[in-house]
Amino acid sequence: MAKNKKLKIGIVGCGAIGSSLAKEIVADLGKAAVLAALYDIRPEKAQLLSRKLVKDARFCVGSLETLIRKSDLVIEASCAKAAWEIARKSLLSRRKVMVMSVGGMVGYLEQLFILAAQNNAQIYFPSGAIAGIDGLKAANIAGIKSIVLTTRKHPKAFRGVEYVAKRFKLDGLKKDKLLFSGSAALAVKYFPQNINVAAVLGLAGIGMRKTKVRIIASPRAAKNIHEILIESSAAKIFTRTENILHPQNPKTSYLAVLSAIATLKQILQPVKIGT
Ligand SMILES: NC(=O)c1ccc[n+]([C@@H]2O[C@H](COP(=O)([O-])OP(=O)(O)OC[C@H]3O[C@@H](n4cnc5c(N)ncnc54)[C@H](O)[C@@H]3O)[C@@H](O)[C@H]2O)c1
Repeated sequence: MAKNKKLKIGIVGCGAIGSSLAKEIVADLGKAAVLAALYDIRPEKAQLLSRKLVKDARFCVGSLETLIRKSDLVIEASCAKAAWEIARKSLLSRRKVMVMSVGGMVGYLEQLFILAAQNNAQIYFPSGAIAGIDGLKAANIAGIKSIVLTTRKHPKAFRGVEYVAKRFKLDGLKKDKLLFSGSAALAVKYFPQNINVAAVLGLAGIGMRKTKVRIIASPRAAKNIHEILIESSAAKIFTRTENILHPQNPKTSYLAVLSAIATLKQILQPVKIGT
């Protein structure tokens, strides 16, 4: 990018994450970036957000294609189903892309990396609601023996999960109950709400099949807790993250939203700290 040229950012999806990012860009990142466009499949959400930010609908665009045209960096903050198409179209137009719906990429990873390389574009996957991706990336260079993610959530967080409904009765649960133990690839399939955490771990480390996931319903868990244990030839790493839920969307961890903002700051700042 030429010196002093501000990065034009387009946001697809104006929910909890998209709104927080848009506010941050307008309020705090103005020296290095401008909000170029907002797009939501529900146009009223993009309009509401634009009006909140600048009192009119100037950021709203009517299509993904227009948003891509106006942006240097496209931030996907929509839904898993739409994520691949958004990333694909952005990369084909040689745009940088930040993907929040990481789980939506799982079936397309090879194509995604090829597309990015062919178009000389970058893709960013924020760490999200977990800690330890920095150590995992470094340790992976020496060789990882095992990675286990253990996720604990209150039983009510599993309401509506088909895999659970078919196998367990969680009403009135008094003790922790192991619901799933297997690969990240299968966890992503059976537990769509854990999809992003497991997918980021698989991507950063030894892949979706070798990354192990345990999911526990815990009646005492007031927060979504993710523990990661990494055994490698360089270090043994253990992290535990107790996530407070986002005030606007109780399905999203607050830290995941902040992680996206931190990634954006990392892109914009000349000094990069951390692995
Ligand atoms: N990487 C992570 O750690 C992490 C953490 C939390 C959430 N997420 C993911 O990020 C995404 C956004 O999360 P959120 O909490 O902001 O969700 P949200 O439900 O608050 O907002 C999503 C918005 O996207 C819009 N949308 C849906 N499909 C669209 C499409 N095809 N095109 C344009 N807009 C569309 C919706 O109308 C909504 O306004 C979700 O897929 C979620 O799973 C990732």
